[in-house]
Amino acid sequence: MQPLRHATERLWSRYLAVPFKRLLERTVQRRHAERLYLVFGGHIFFETLRTGVQLDLFSLLAREGPLTRKEIGERLGLEDQPLRILLLGLVACGLLRKRGARYACTWVSRQLLDRHSPRKITAYVELQHRVMYKGMYWMLEAVREFRNAGLKEFAGDEPTLYQRLAHDPELEAIFQEAMQELSVQANEDMARFIDLSRVRHLVDVGGGDGTNAIALARRWPHLRATVFDSPTVCEIAREHIARHGLSDRVQAVPGDCFEDPFPEGADCLMFCHFFTIWSPEKDRALLEKCHAALPPGGQVVLFNMMQDDDETGPLSAAVGSPYFLTIATGEGMLYTWREYESWMKAAGFSQVARYRLPRDHGLIIGTRP
Ligand SMILES: C[S@@+](CC[C@H](N)C(=O)[O-])C[C@H]1O[C@@H](n2cnc3c(N)ncnc32)[C@H](O)[C@@H]1O
Repeated sequence: MQPLRHATERLWSRYLAVPFKRLLERTVQRRHAERLYLVFGGHIFFETLRTGVQLDLFSLLAREGPLTRKEIGERLGLEDQPLRILLLGLVACGLLRKRGARYACTWVSRQLLDRHSPRKITAYVELQHRVMYKGMYWMLEAVREFRNAGLKEFAGDEPTLYQRLAHDPELEAIFQEAMQELSVQANEDMARFIDLSRVRHLVDVGGGDGTNAIALARRWPHLRATVFDSPTVCEIAREHIARHGLSDRVQAVPGDCFEDPFPEGADCLMFCHFFTIWSPEKDRALLEKCHAALPPGGQVVLFNMMQDDDETGPLSAAVGSPYFLTIATGEGMLYTWREYESWMKAAGFSQVARYRLPRDHGLIIGTRP
């Protein structure tokens, strides 16, 4: 056995170890280079994606695919060369599949980019183009000066994007639709998970178009819910609530949660995708305001994407945080689980518990003793 082992070791070290190491290095380097390319070309790949969405290419292929380039060109009224460029980008990014001469959706584009899919994020793609894409040009200034330098891309002189959106009803509608698309899946997970059997009146602070309040009111038939948001958003919420036939139990009350008292009689104050918008100081002040407003046994609920406690990810936190700094408010980011928990405890809440949900989302619930 001994001579055989020695012979194998000699063979490995003399002839195989170096080529194997080189192959391994090349594979790892290639993976890193590809990742860099995706980052480096992110703006181009994003606009390629958005062009496909605007042309409704994904819906066409989901319905009628696989199709040849000629067939796609005829259906969409496009010249061959620009279409060829578009298709090359979408295939290289893994958003379309090419077999022989025919193109088809991949699983992910069928799920998310076909306008008829219940999981579509097409309004969110448009919001990225109309808001994030333009505003993020100013990230260097935002980082240097710790302010939302990209806000200058939007009409008005108010300090946050949310206020400025009121000047542009079309953009505000896209924003709310995008939030709904983004939130609908995550909020459904949350509505299934959270126990509101003992809550009588839930106030959804910054509740947007009411998607959340509607889902929760449906899940808990005894529950009364109030969306607390700006006047223009409350109008959108009221229409949405009425369309779902819930106007008797779900209402929308306009207000500013920093300036105005919370709507009366809440025993649960909920903040979905909201604490990420503001500075730690404002979030902590809001938690203190919640503590003062809630009755004993009342609950505060935070729900949004979370940053890992060791501050290494996930990608969703790394994508969302620069938007809050550069455009939305100049002060927010996706904070870690631990930060939210410590702020809640410092505000006087007990039984603070965290629940990990799909899509990098988390729920943190505290109870007023
Ligand atoms: C990121 S969206 C979240 C919407 C919703 N909660 C969801 O999960 O989809 C933030 C919402 O907070 C609202 N908002 C911003 N500042 C506010 C304030 N000071 N008081 C109340 N609502 C506010 C915005 O109008 C917007 O609808």
